Amino acid sequence: MRDIIELNTVSKIYKTGEKEYRALDNVSLKISKGEFVVILGPSGAGKSTLLNLIGGMDSVTSGKIIIDGKDISDYNEQQLTDFRAENIGFIFQFYNILPTLTVIENVELVKEVVKKQVDAKKALESVGLEEHLNKFPNQLSGGEQQRVSIARAISKNPKILLCDEPTGALDSKTGIEVLKLLKMQCSKSSGENTVIVVTHNALFAEIADTVIRVKNGRIESVTQNQNPKMVDEVTW
Ligand SMILES: Nc1ncnc2c1ncn2[C@@H]1O[C@H](COP(=O)(O)OP(=O)(O)OP(=O)(O)O)[C@@H](O)[C@H]1O
Ligand SMILES: [Mg+2]
Repeated sequence: MRDIIELNTVSKIYKTGEKEYRALDNVSLKISKGEFVVILGPSGAGKSTLLNLIGGMDSVTSGKIIIDGKDISDYNEQQLTDFRAENIGFIFQFYNILPTLTVIENVELVKEVVKKQVDAKKALESVGLEEHLNKFPNQLSGGEQQRVSIARAISKNPKILLCDEPTGALDSKTGIEVLKLLKMQCSKSSGENTVIVVTHNALFAEIADTVIRVKNGRIESVTQNQNPKMVDEVTW
C-alpha cells in the first residue's frame, strides 16, 4: 500500500511567554492509504498535536509532513485552508456542530468550502439520521449529535478522516455504532479513506490496522495488526 501520510523528523514547540514546551520531539512516521489507525498514549503525550499537524490545523516547528505526495510543512495559511477543504475531515469529542442550525443545515455548510460534496441528505441517511433532518442539535442525544458531525465530515469524502476522542462523550453502545461508521470509511466501497482515531481506550487497538503509541512527545511504538477484529468481535 502506498503511504498517504509521512512525517519526517517533526518537532512542535509551543511557546508561552518565556517557556518553551516540546509537544512533539523528532517524530518520524508513515501511514498507508486505507488504514484504520489508532493512536494511544497518556494525557499530554502529544496525540492531539500530532493530529492537528497532519490535518494542517497547525504547523510544524521543524521537520516535514508529506500528505499524498505533497509537502504541506511550508504551506501558507491559504494553502493550508485549501488543503484541509480538499483532503481532511475532523471529528472531535464534543461534536463542534452549530446550535443555531438544523441537522441538515449543519451538513450542508460543507458546500461553502468543498465543491464535490456528497449530498447532505445521503450522508445523514448513511449515519441513520434521516428522521432528524430538521431538528436542532439540542433536540438530539449526544450520540445523534456525534453522528451529525460524522455525516458532515464524511460528506466531504475526505482522503483522511481525523478523529480526536470521537467516542469520549458517548455511552459504550453508542460509541460502538460510531466506531463502525468510522471503520466503514476505510472500506473499498467508501473509497479507501484513511482514518486516524485518538483515544484513551486501549481496546481500540484490537480493531486497528496500525496502533501508534505516543509518550512524552515521541513515538513509543508502531504495531501492525495482522488480523484486526471487527468492531462487533470486541468485548467492550
Ligand atoms: N496551544 C498550546 N500552547 C501551549 N502548549 C500546548 C498547546 N497545545 C498543547 N500544548 C502542550 O503540549 C503537550 C501535548 O498536548 P496534546 O494536546 O497534544 O496532548 P494529548 O496527548 O492530546 O493529551 P490529552 O489526552 O489530554 O488530550 C501538552 O503538555 C500541552 O500542554
Ligand atoms: Mg488531546
